[in-house]
Amino acid sequence: MFIRTLSLRDFRSWEHAELELSPGRTVFLGSNGNGKTNLLEAIGYLATLGSHRVAADAPLIRLGADKARIGASVVNSGRELRIDIELNQGAANRAQINRSPARRPREILGILQTVLFAPEDLALVRGDPGERRRFMDELCTARLPRLAAVRSDYDRVLRQRSALLKSAGRQARSKTELGTLDVWDGHLATHASVLLTYRLRLVHDLYPYLAQSYAAIAPESRPAAIAYRSATLPPEFLDPAREPQPDDTEALEAIMLRELAAARPKELERGVCLVGPHRDELDLNLGEAPAKGFASHGESWSFALALRLGAFELLRATGSEPVLLLDDVFAELDRRRRTALAAVAAGAEQVLITAAVPEDVPAELAAVPLRVETSGGPDGRSPRIAEPATPSP
Ligand SMILES: Nc1ncnc2c1ncn2[C@@H]1O[C@H](COP(=O)(O)OP(=O)(O)OP(=O)(O)O)[C@@H](O)[C@H]1O
Ligand SMILES: [Mg+2]
Repeated sequence: MFIRTLSLRDFRSWEHAELELSPGRTVFLGSNGNGKTNLLEAIGYLATLGSHRVAADAPLIRLGADKARIGASVVNSGRELRIDIELNQGAANRAQINRSPARRPREILGILQTVLFAPEDLALVRGDPGERRRFMDELCTARLPRLAAVRSDYDRVLRQRSALLKSAGRQARSKTELGTLDVWDGHLATHASVLLTYRLRLVHDLYPYLAQSYAAIAPESRPAAIAYRSATLPPEFLDPAREPQPDDTEALEAIMLRELAAARPKELERGVCLVGPHRDELDLNLGEAPAKGFASHGESWSFALALRLGAFELLRATGSEPVLLLDDVFAELDRRRRTALAAVAAGAEQVLITAAVPEDVPAELAAVPLRVETSGGPDGRSPRIAEPATPSP
């Protein structure tokens, strides 16, 4: 797939932008702070309904504005769809598909797929388990957009059940309260089992691509592997080589109910929900050792890169080809890793790259340069796109 047009209004530093893009490679060139990453962040938002840099939407709205808009026309196998999203300060966000209101923003998920490489990716290896849960869940949702609803239901039930555990833990518990908790256990197990099914399937499908990508980037290093980590699930479910079974969801629901019942006294004592996919994570291993805490800086970078490359290869092998977004990554990489990434990027349908200077982009990626400058606007600092510096090759 590729993005044919991108429009922004009051998104980050961009007061207004209208861009025509083509398949192949485009590089946004400009000095630090000119708004290059903001462009890729906006595109990433259309694909995931989240930013790779911040957890909340407020910083995405231009200072002084009360709403931001991002829109794009996406061409997938010859079919073009227009998606728009409006981020509102203090009110719900709204989305449109082909200019008609969508019931919920998440209905636009799946229309645009992206894989974004960014300096922040080091947190995939070095950061908290939440980073890796988000990596898994965003990739699961790219593969199956209806999982967004499951994730949101799971989060809602988790919040409500946790609140109940807190209040029931403090006072003498009534029979009704414990009965209500049983009902919430049922809801939690239902949503958790679907989420777990797709996470386990993802790890199973991703792990050969991950191992291959890592070996291509760092052939001299120990082999890389991933595995799902969960204190709730029996070990056989955690082996990435295990073939997913058609009745996995049912089996996982039964396990969840059993584990919730077993954990009940402890949960009431502590007032928190101790069982479920919100406590799980993705183990990253190099040889026998976990990457976190053991891997060198270069190995950590290679692992992060391999996770993204693996995700790209998996999506393109099993669905439609995502748009590749490369934010300032080449400057961070040594020659071998630049070459490995450039090789994948060279074969992708559309690649959007940001760089401060043209020399940061490998020569084999001959890309159409678009200059991002800051000029004009009320504060004299609104970014704008200047015409291509040189004709496309
Ligand atoms: N909500 C906002 N309103 C106005 N300006 C913002 C907002 N959020 C960020 N900015 C501005 O956007 C600019 C940063 O843009 P961006 O991160 O895209 O830069 P960049 O071109 O990628 O730079 P670098 O080369 O350093 O990565 C900063 O000047 C910042 O002040
Ligand atoms: Mg940047």
